[in-house]
Amino acid sequence: MPSFGRSMLQHWLLDPDSVYLNHGTVGAPPRRVLAAQQAIRDEIERQPARFILRELADVRQIPMRMKPRMRRAAEHIAAFVGVCPEDFAFVSNATEGVNAVLRSFPLQPGDELLLTDHGYGGVTNTARYVAGRTGGTVRVLELPEARWDGAEIAEVIARAIGPKTRILVVDHVTSPTALILPVKEIIRRAHEAGVKVLVDGAHVPGALPLDIPPLGAEWYVANLHKWAMSPRSAGFLWASPEAQQDLHPTTISWGLGKGMDAEFDLTGTRDPSPWLASPAGIDFMRGIGLDEMRAHNHSIAWGAATMLSARWGTRLMTDESMVGTMATIPMPEKFGTGADDAQRLKDALLYEDRIEAQVHSFKGRMWVRISGQVYNDVSDLEKFAASVERHARK
Ligand SMILES: Cc1ncc(COP(=O)(O)O)c(C=O)c1O
Repeated sequence: MPSFGRSMLQHWLLDPDSVYLNHGTVGAPPRRVLAAQQAIRDEIERQPARFILRELADVRQIPMRMKPRMRRAAEHIAAFVGVCPEDFAFVSNATEGVNAVLRSFPLQPGDELLLTDHGYGGVTNTARYVAGRTGGTVRVLELPEARWDGAEIAEVIARAIGPKTRILVVDHVTSPTALILPVKEIIRRAHEAGVKVLVDGAHVPGALPLDIPPLGAEWYVANLHKWAMSPRSAGFLWASPEAQQDLHPTTISWGLGKGMDAEFDLTGTRDPSPWLASPAGIDFMRGIGLDEMRAHNHSIAWGAATMLSARWGTRLMTDESMVGTMATIPMPEKFGTGADDAQRLKDALLYEDRIEAQVHSFKGRMWVRISGQVYNDVSDLEKFAASVERHARK
């Protein structure tokens, strides 16, 4: 492997004339992982009925001749995140995992689902949908606006839990603001109040070391197709043994009542290759060095934070300890403030300068969330900054 930076682009299909600073929104799998996925697809096509009906998932009456392929892949990923494979199931993405948990949850009329305003919009919508059908309520808690501090956020969330709160949904790494939250402490405080916790870890596997059970949550949902180098669409759902009681996938099929693995492993005929190739994503990261990769990605993200905030004269909202492989940096008001301004700038960066970055409006101002990946280096940040400043002057 060459040293990290733009020369690493040779391992991706990414356009080498582009700058991709948005791995956190839409991850890009390396060539080697896509080749592993293609090999699996080729294997499937040699005898599709054998693969899909007899070897993929165990929902049969009689024992299978071999360990189901979904379970073999599940064992690999489960070990990577420190969980038992029996408590682990693949889902297509974090959204699907969150839907499975919230739509299975026995919410009663008047019960409250608590989320924060730093959560992902699609997840908040799921909560609203579930509450609307069951007579429950959704409360979206506003986190402090002056400065983002982990201990203070944990305190604010704990204080917001009320007598009607039944379930808390909290991001491990927040969506618009890319903050690593102290989820273990947040879960401890929620449990003191008798509230169950679903952690949305969409941005965690691969990006940060992850050992799920000690966090203490009931459910942990994550993506593999963002930071774990997996092909799309691959995510997972972990549930503690007690929390599997009422848990079902959003699509019910032959595995109903046969355990979490059987229920989730076969939900109709689908292309299983992203999940079966996901171990190749882990192998790729191990090959380039997990610690080295994380250190490089963090240095790009934090480097972007310090460089851009100094260049633009904006104040960072957090310190380095809450930043992993992505950082969210406030943009000056003169660049724009609303969602339209953000979309215009994002499009100008992409279509005029071939630069992809997550620019969005949040709390009445514009922000950029920079993702650092092994194929990025400081020159990408320089190009991004110069391009933003040029477009902002127009
Ligand atoms: C915190 C969080 N949760 C969930 C999602 C949804 O991920 P997916 O589209 O893979 O389901 C995202 C996407 O960026 C996210 O940031």
